Amino acid sequence: MSTRTAPAALATARLDLHRWTPDEAPDFHAIWGDPRVIWWGASASVEQSRATLERVRGRCAGDDALGWWAMRDRASGAIVGNVCTQPAPDPPGGVEIGWHLAHAHQGRGYAREGATALMQHAAKVGLRHLVATVIPLNYPSVAVARHLGMDAVAVVDRLAVAHVVFAREL
Ligand SMILES: CC(C)(COP(=O)(O)OP(=O)(O)OC[C@H]1O[C@@H](n2cnc3c(N)ncnc32)[C@H](O)[C@@H]1OP(=O)(O)O)[C@@H](O)C(=O)NCCC(=O)NCCS
Repeated sequence: MSTRTAPAALATARLDLHRWTPDEAPDFHAIWGDPRVIWWGASASVEQSRATLERVRGRCAGDDALGWWAMRDRASGAIVGNVCTQPAPDPPGGVEIGWHLAHAHQGRGYAREGATALMQHAAKVGLRHLVATVIPLNYPSVAVARHLGMDAVAVVDRLAVAHVVFAREL
């Protein structure tokens, strides 16, 4: 667990990142409730997304290297996606990074930009190793992992689907 104080916000060339707050559940649901984005089980309602947000916030509480961050495009003010670092199931004890872009904002490199900032932040507060678990046919996601400098190290089963584990030292 990291002990350094984490900043409340991160900034990239185009994006401002902040940790999701409970009152942003409707914005979170615009991403988490869209089956084109969360094709493995989108939320059916804002209340379900609010519960997910509470659960993941709890999972990450108390460790500056962990968290779910909303990405806001500075020019338009729109929340364009989510990036997160959280405890990883594969391997247990590790930390995984993830990315989820609102459908209207995919294909503009926001995932790469936000995930790079989050990875750098995690390294700054003391994290030393990061994984990402990706379905190999999810080409944009594989490309984001590669952009982060991650290498494929293992194949695991998640929800009965083969996933590739990407990893890197920080
Ligand atoms: C995966 C996801 C986060 C990528 O975000 P994004 O901001 O749209 O990604 P980018 O615009 O940076 O594109 C990523 C790369 O994929 C490439 N790409 C996009 N569509 C592609 C396709 N159909 N085939 C191959 N490559 C593709 C892009 O060219 C880009 O590569 P480059 O940076 O080398 O040019 C986004 O598509 C998403 O939210 N998908 C749904 C949720 C998801 O799959 N999350 C990951 C779960 S493991």
